[in-house]
Amino acid sequence: MNLEQIRKDTPLHKKYSYINTAAASPPPQQVVDAMTDYLQKTASLGPYLPAFRKEIYVKVDEIRGKVAEFIGASSKEIAFSKNGTEAINFIVNGLKWNEGDEVILADLEFHSNFVPWLKLQSEGKIKLKVLKTDKSGVISVQELEKMINPNTRMITVSHLPNASGALQPVEEICKVAKKHNVLTLINASQTLGLVPIDVKKLDCDFLAACGRKWLRGPEGSGILYIREELIDYIEPTLIGWGGTVWDFDTNEFSYLPIAKRVEAGCPVIPSILGLGAAVDYAWAIGIESIYQRVKDLTEYTVKQLSTIPGISIYGPEDIKNRLAIIPFNVKGLTPERITEFLEENHIIIEAGTFMANTMLQQYRINKMARFSPHYFNTKEEIERAVDLIKTLIRKEGQQ
Ligand SMILES: Cc1ncc(COP(=O)(O)O)c(C=O)c1O
Repeated sequence: MNLEQIRKDTPLHKKYSYINTAAASPPPQQVVDAMTDYLQKTASLGPYLPAFRKEIYVKVDEIRGKVAEFIGASSKEIAFSKNGTEAINFIVNGLKWNEGDEVILADLEFHSNFVPWLKLQSEGKIKLKVLKTDKSGVISVQELEKMINPNTRMITVSHLPNASGALQPVEEICKVAKKHNVLTLINASQTLGLVPIDVKKLDCDFLAACGRKWLRGPEGSGILYIREELIDYIEPTLIGWGGTVWDFDTNEFSYLPIAKRVEAGCPVIPSILGLGAAVDYAWAIGIESIYQRVKDLTEYTVKQLSTIPGISIYGPEDIKNRLAIIPFNVKGLTPERITEFLEENHIIIEAGTFMANTMLQQYRINKMARFSPHYFNTKEEIERAVDLIKTLIRKEGQQ
């Protein structure tokens, strides 16, 4: 991995240390260029100059193929979405639910993969069963299997929860689900671009993800994978010209026989072009190298943070189960004060609830601070951040 080049490609890093990719990553310049070049041309050529439009639609199709290849799918199984939440909703609201259907998820889900299911339940369409996790934050596949019964229709799980950083055993979960003929939706919003993903190997039915985090794509980008055999079962939530065909003989419409059927109108072209450039960028570095580097940085960050007096680090104790996300609190300092002080020193991390209700209750806390280093971060940046927290303790903390 050519870190020097990577950091050159990320202009922000001349001034800031940005250690908050779990929220969103600064995109590399290549992603910004892909979007701005297009926007500039819409101004200078007009967006519907025929040759230009044709070229752009060809590119959009190429990017669909690229995204498919990136996760081991075929082009027809990929839809673009505005974000991870929208992609999840396309499945929640697109499947036809039968009376008595049950959906299982764990208490570690981010709201975007929880509230849409709660709404379905409140409408009487499904029964939601919530698996309790322990402090390890890792789903027990045995416990999960015990919850499956003949009414179980779907299991959904976040590959990497945003608050704990506990990487979930998604392959085993999909295997158990298949054994019981249960559908699976993987929320890969925190792993796309971070962990090698092959949907065929994973054997999941649906996978939703946003582009703005570990893939370093633009905000307003996301993807949805729908297993080919299931495309016809997904009724588009939004409909329009993008996902339908019109039969001029019968004057009737039908949905496209591909995942694109959920894309109702004009594609969000700048975001798709940015997403394509982000896939190219991740490919050029190599997804396995990205994963290994972030794993190393995670371990290093945990080690460094552990030297801070009065620190509590949350999430999996076994480093093997943790990736990229390290939540913590320091006795005598609020998480907001820590982030504020680091920001004053040009280091960006985040504090909040991260909507992690269960985790907050397990540790009896209201909020936490969170480091989430990506491959472009350096050990020196982590050390500097940790030293600054120690300085803050000396200035303001009470041990
Ligand atoms: C685990 C997880 N799932 C889903 C989402 C939602 O993604 P988006 O903000 O792109 O809708 C997030 C965003 O923070 C997330 O962390």
